[in-house]
Amino acid sequence: MKNIDIVIPIISARYSELSPEQQRLIDEARLATRRSYAPYSHFNVGAAIKLSDGAIVTGANQENAAFPSSTCAERTACYYAGANHPDASFEIIAIAARGTDGLEVEQPIPPCGACRQALLEYEKLAGHDVEVLLAGRDEIYILPSVKSLLPLSFTDF
Ligand code: THU
Repeated sequence: MKNIDIVIPIISARYSELSPEQQRLIDEARLATRRSYAPYSHFNVGAAIKLSDGAIVTGANQENAAFPSSTCAERTACYYAGANHPDASFEIIAIAARGTDGLEVEQPIPPCGACRQALLEYEKLAGHDVEVLLAGRDEIYILPSVKSLLPLSFTDF
């Protein structure tokens, strides 16, 4: 018997410490929160994905009166990317959110489990790590890959 510890490597940074490319993606994710449709939760999430063809695609959560029919920002963005840029691979993804008070969340916003699973598939398709930027009001988490957010992952059957 042995213990296995799984460590998630996270860099905590301030916006001013990011590269221009990372800042741009955070800006796009923050902007995308404005296009969220969240009349039920009033929690506005935005995601931005930089693709290998140079495009930046964004998504925002879209809710529905039949709650399970709603879609998270990350899946809106990644399925849009898959449907409209099928030959491009993911390079970086940024996520931002505004809470019920309308202000950006204080803590960096992590994607839900279902979104981690969906994003992981595109990382696998890319064949390389996809950097993940999780934005909070003052603090930004930089993760090296989607896989680092979902270490014991299901990708094959
Ligand atoms: N939401 C996202 O868009 N992404 C996540 O990763 C977590 C949650 C949305 C779903 C719902 O519209 C609202 O946030 C509250 O859960």
